[in-house]
Amino acid sequence: SSRFELLDISWFTACMEAGRPVDSELKYRLMDAFEVMAENYEFKENEIFCLEFLRAASVLKFLPFPVTKMKDIQGLPCMGDRVRDIIEEIIEEGESSRAKEVLNDERYQSFKQFTSVFGVGVKTSEKWYRMGLRTLEEVKADNTLKLSKMQKAGFLYYEDLVSCVSKAEADAVSLIVKNTVCRFLPDALVTITGGFRRGKEIGHDIDFLITNPGPREDDELLHKVVDLWKKQGLLLYCDMIESTFVKEQLPSRKVDAMDNFQKCFAILKLYQPRVDNSSYNMSKKFHTEVKDWKAIRVDLVITPFEQYAYALLGWTGSRQFGRDLRRYANHERKMILDNHALYDRRKCQQPGIRFRNRKGCWLLLYQTLVPLAGV
Ligand code: CTP
Ligand code: MN
Ligand code: MN
Ligand code: MN
Repeated sequence: SSRFELLDISWFTACMEAGRPVDSELKYRLMDAFEVMAENYEFKENEIFCLEFLRAASVLKFLPFPVTKMKDIQGLPCMGDRVRDIIEEIIEEGESSRAKEVLNDERYQSFKQFTSVFGVGVKTSEKWYRMGLRTLEEVKADNTLKLSKMQKAGFLYYEDLVSCVSKAEADAVSLIVKNTVCRFLPDALVTITGGFRRGKEIGHDIDFLITNPGPREDDELLHKVVDLWKKQGLLLYCDMIESTFVKEQLPSRKVDAMDNFQKCFAILKLYQPRVDNSSYNMSKKFHTEVKDWKAIRVDLVITPFEQYAYALLGWTGSRQFGRDLRRYANHERKMILDNHALYDRRKCQQPGIRFRNRKGCWLLLYQTLVPLAGV
């Protein structure tokens, strides 16, 4: 029997020991098809089917061997019937008729366009689609629509925001964030998280985690930072989410837990050195302005120092890795992991205290918090 029968982390470890992931053209074709299927199920709010394809895609991504025939995926986790059908068709026909159908589907195409706007999710897309709208042009032309502040910014900076953020841009923004934060808290730690911390070369935004080692906390820090940017004319949009941390509340057991940290979803103006001299000269000649900046999506999250390690783990992602890690904690280790802490579930189930009992259990959970090594 194959060693890949082991599930989750043990399976992942086995893969890592077996060698580096092997890339092949077929593998990318499979992963692309899975991603299209997952996205379509997301648009249909079918979370179970969506996750099935996302998991299958991440299993394939890390396989240390190429997939060329059905036998290669024998014993692999997360290969349900829906997934196998698609693999089989791609191996035999070179493409998946189902994925192709989705790509040609009018609803999928509209949702894909709608959700590419910052602030537009599946719910809004559904509403627009029901109203008969099909393209972004139609949405923009419809002036009966009431757009949120976020969606207005999404349309205003659409071109900049859909063009990906480069590593160089991330480094430039990182300097700005660090400089601004350290003006107010010189010892603060500012760490880039998200895709860029995972070593990706491009991203759709830049994520930062801020914490202050030692006892000093500053609840106003994030406000001071964005106020300064506002004064400097660098802040194009800002959605401040205040901390919702409630001591009596149990950790969320949902697989896709949001956390309770104070955070800010912002759009920053990043000035860029002018590269194209000809258009600059043209603009001088015709007295038109050349845009010398790019709108960049930035997420800022601030955490108490004792929760920093967990926040860093959660915000580093990927989303799928986070889901799997939380699933592993819960099912294999009887623990609960979220962006605030790791809790030991077994130590809560003491006589007289039911796990679902909200108040009593929270205190116990906190006493049995298991810190990660190397915080
Ligand atoms: N995340 C989180 N809690 C939130 C929002 C996001 O833990 N309230 C996590 C996500 O699960 C993800 C990471 O923070 O793993 C970064 O989120 P995001 O910027 O959306 O994704 P990236 O992996 O950075 O990819 P991209 O390049 O598209 O930004
Ligand atoms: Mn990101
Ligand atoms: Mn993302
Ligand atoms: Mn983000």
